Amino acid sequence: MAGDKVVQTTGLMGWIDRRFPLTKMFKEHMSEYYAPKNFNFWYFFGSLAMLVLVIQILTGIFMVMHYKPDAKLAFLSVEYIMREVPYGWIIRYMHSTGASMFFVVVYLHMLRGLFYGSYRKPRELVWIFGVCIFLCLMAEAFFGYLLPWGQMSYWGAQVIVNLFSAIPFVGDGLSTWIRGDFVVSDATLNRFFAFHVIAIPLVLIGLVVAHIIALHEVGSNNPDGIEIKANKDRNGRPLDGIPFHPYYSVHDILGVAGFLLVFAAIMFFAPTMGGYFLEANNFLPADPYKTPPHIAPVWYFTAFYSMLRATTDEFTWALIAFALFFAVYILLNKNIKGLWRILWPVVLVLVAVGLRTFDAKFWGVVVMGGTVVILGFLPWLDKSPVKSIRYRPTWHKFLYAIFIVDFIVLCIIGTKAPSPLLNIVSQVGTVIYLAFFFFMPVWSRLGKFKQVPDRVTFKQH
Ligand code: HEM
Repeated sequence: MAGDKVVQTTGLMGWIDRRFPLTKMFKEHMSEYYAPKNFNFWYFFGSLAMLVLVIQILTGIFMVMHYKPDAKLAFLSVEYIMREVPYGWIIRYMHSTGASMFFVVVYLHMLRGLFYGSYRKPRELVWIFGVCIFLCLMAEAFFGYLLPWGQMSYWGAQVIVNLFSAIPFVGDGLSTWIRGDFVVSDATLNRFFAFHVIAIPLVLIGLVVAHIIALHEVGSNNPDGIEIKANKDRNGRPLDGIPFHPYYSVHDILGVAGFLLVFAAIMFFAPTMGGYFLEANNFLPADPYKTPPHIAPVWYFTAFYSMLRATTDEFTWALIAFALFFAVYILLNKNIKGLWRILWPVVLVLVAVGLRTFDAKFWGVVVMGGTVVILGFLPWLDKSPVKSIRYRPTWHKFLYAIFIVDFIVLCIIGTKAPSPLLNIVSQVGTVIYLAFFFFMPVWSRLGKFKQVPDRVTFKQH
């Protein structure tokens, strides 16, 4: 930092620093990383996501010491962990509660990004790494769910892997290749185990490191959506910034304490969370000859699962109308320049034709995947002149509220057995979800925006 004296470390630290940049790294990412001073409650969830990642890895290591990735032994080895291994039940409940809490924390972390426009320039890569983390997290949870080899593990995997068979031409071969067999079997369990305990965690850790490096390169956003680097003192420090350590490192302990209270309460008093965290059917060993009456994924997947189920043959007509409307809109929109104005309508018309050519099940898979992938395009879909929700027109806040309620409704429907009424609600919900993103380039620039202050708003507390 300009004007600062470079203090040479001595003793053991000096010995290390002459060989490895420990103090330099600590300064860069902790004691001289200037974070905006107006962080609020929503800023707890990044560090909490890191905490849950550590909990999952540590408890996972201890479970692997006793777990057997063998179709004949897997279920019994989990029972053995629960009943015989000293404190095994705590380790297992920490891991199963951790899985759900990971999604609670990450969903709130993403929601914060949405509220404050944290995905906007220059944080596009921070966000994209985040979306990749989210995809990895989904894969990690899916692979892990097969390991206890309960009824729901088995049939859940069967349903999800079967979805791949809906892909035209290569689908059947692909799903057999994923399972390593014609049905979910010991071969499937072995490869899911390999992915769950080593492949995905490695990628996940790499992505989290990239996420933080990218964030520290550009600096944190804040609830006002103001770039604090625009106002610096004589020494080049942001006027509205405070060193991450000790201010936020200590502040985050409060979040950790609150979180651990909730975590422990669930773990000790409601580890199954009424069937939402651990499903009743999964306390029965997998039986390939007996399909459970109702197969549903765990709650954190159910919104996307609802959108998959919503994509029936009739619903493809709604998607065709959506695609054609969009094609005409782009064609007539003078703001869209160059090749894009022709290319997008052509792609959309091809999609419309494809919607009647290929099976609705395939389009269900496309909708389910697309509703996650579309999040990665958010930095370019949002055209609002301000970042934070604080300075947007009030009706934008209503749109966010509708989107959140819609997501929760889709989540709930996904846990229920299908019915004609719920199917219609999930179809409306899917249209709302897609419209929120597809029309964002239009609605996000409309309305009366409030004046964004030059400096962050901060109340002493
Ligand atoms: C294992 C999962 C994740 C971990 C450990 C993690 C960790 C963090 C941490 C420690 C921060 C800085 C503190 C904070 O701003 O809260 C951060 C910021 C951020 N994360 Fe994540 N994150 C994860 C997943 C995600 C996901 C899934 C997304 C979005 C799709 C995301 C988007 C962001 C954004 C945009 C920021 C910058 C926020 C700002 O400056 O306002 N992260 N993350």
